[in-house]
Amino acid sequence: MAPSTPSTPHRSDSGSPAPTAAPPGSYTIEDVVPGVKIFVDKPLPNGTTEQRKAEILSSRAKPPPSAFAPKPPADAPPPDPRDDTEYYVHYVEFNKRLDEWVGGSRLVLDREMEWPKPKDEGKKKDKSGKATPGKAAVDSPRPSLLKKAATKAAMAATSKDSVGKRKAKADPDEEDEEDEEDEIDLTASNPQAAPPVFSKKQEIEKLRTSGSMTQSHSEISRVKNLDKLQIGKHQVEAWYFSPYPIEYAHLPVLYLCEFCLLYYPSFTQLKRHRTKCTLYHPPGNEIYRSGNVSFWEIDGRRQRTWCRNLCLLSKCFLDHKTLYYDVDPFMYYCMTVKDEYGYHLIGYFSKEKESAEGYNVACILTLPQHQRKGYGRVLIEFSYELSKVEGKLGSPEKPLSDLGLLSYRAYWQEEIVKLLVNSHDEITLDEIAQKTSITHGDIMHTCQALQMIKYYKGSHIIHLTDAVLEQHHKTQAKQRTSIDPSQLRWKPPVFSRAQLAFGF
Ligand code: ACO
Ligand code: ZN
Repeated sequence: MAPSTPSTPHRSDSGSPAPTAAPPGSYTIEDVVPGVKIFVDKPLPNGTTEQRKAEILSSRAKPPPSAFAPKPPADAPPPDPRDDTEYYVHYVEFNKRLDEWVGGSRLVLDREMEWPKPKDEGKKKDKSGKATPGKAAVDSPRPSLLKKAATKAAMAATSKDSVGKRKAKADPDEEDEEDEEDEIDLTASNPQAAPPVFSKKQEIEKLRTSGSMTQSHSEISRVKNLDKLQIGKHQVEAWYFSPYPIEYAHLPVLYLCEFCLLYYPSFTQLKRHRTKCTLYHPPGNEIYRSGNVSFWEIDGRRQRTWCRNLCLLSKCFLDHKTLYYDVDPFMYYCMTVKDEYGYHLIGYFSKEKESAEGYNVACILTLPQHQRKGYGRVLIEFSYELSKVEGKLGSPEKPLSDLGLLSYRAYWQEEIVKLLVNSHDEITLDEIAQKTSITHGDIMHTCQALQMIKYYKGSHIIHLTDAVLEQHHKTQAKQRTSIDPSQLRWKPPVFSRAQLAFGF
């Protein structure tokens, strides 16, 4: 049974900061309700255990073992009755991707606990609908507030038309490490126009602590419902909630057909399916092939089931997207790598058939088993190649996730710097935009973040710094897959009004 409202009033009725230390044993399991912060035993890969502070997001009765779960060995210790209730925890100061269900035995009851600051003493209710009697306030900001600050920073940093409107620092906690540069940069000449300057260290720290930039609003989707997914020969852990049917939630492993993306609760069922499934590549037209890399164009309206399955899968790794069923307004560009068994999905991006905001990517994903191998860059590069054929400038849909922001920043930087290095004459912002299809806003943002904009004799100029050049030479030395535009066989699809009426 899930625990009820706490019985012991460990609180300060004055509303002043809570007594953060409690004598050992003064809390009971009944005190542990959603919103509470408590230390949790976290086993580490090296075999030791660390106590980490975590926020309780939900609780549930332990689900019965799945029919497909392996039987515990005969000499396994008897189950701990405290584990009959499980708690969904978010480790404070750790990435949201590490959120997980833990058994009650992992809660550390003899260390301090914290309760959320009541927004409004009178109205505050807990999940059961009962009033939460004046829980003690805590000093530290709630994780949700930190995440909001991160969202603001990301939006300010990436908004394509906000160059002149940005505040000096999008995130008040950020420190400008290079504030004392001698050169007059845009930051100094016009504080209104200064973007946030992120050091690599700060970016990584943000990644570790903040998770995605935008959090889903509904309580239910804060809790991850899937554990592991088997995709082809790879087993990966889900990062976030995805609305797979309820009967598939909380299985030890969900088995996916890597070609049609249908899902099964057991390997046996998947194997049976594979004997009948005839798909060996994504449905749709192959519009690019170079070596073993292909891109497939898929119309969400024509391949509704496949695209919905793709969205269900990608939602496991995307925290800030909410469209799963409404696939009709999008085209899907899927990248595969071929071997003797077929064309294996690596990643994809979706693109609105008609984007009022000029977005050239709605969602972008590299499947986790293929991340950090340069494929995200290839997907981004491909999206800009499409924009070049369309003769348009494009930008990814905002807000970007933490990883999306890092990947786009790296791509923009590389493309802009490559152009600057290779052009002997002066090059204008507009020429950079025309040659790369990157919007003016994204170019400005990238140059500002790299401190490449100087205010010189009354106008702003872009200049290469030694640090940027050094990084450029390092990236050039890497062996990576990249797009060969001559292998693209594509015309922008044209849709009639009737085809764009998506029948809501
Ligand atoms: N830590 C630090 N830097 C990173 C990381 C990371 N975890 N991931 C990417 N980068 C940066 C690096 O600069 C990297 O270049 P490097 O490896 O040479 O240093 C660069 O981005 C490109 O990395 P890739 O290997 O090409 O990118 P990857 O294949 O891992 O895909 C992607 C990036 C698509 C963002 C992937 O992380 C992903 O699918 N994440 C989950 C879904 C997501 O957040 N998508 C973006 C949402 S925003 C939107 O949809 C518009
Ligand atoms: Zn299949």
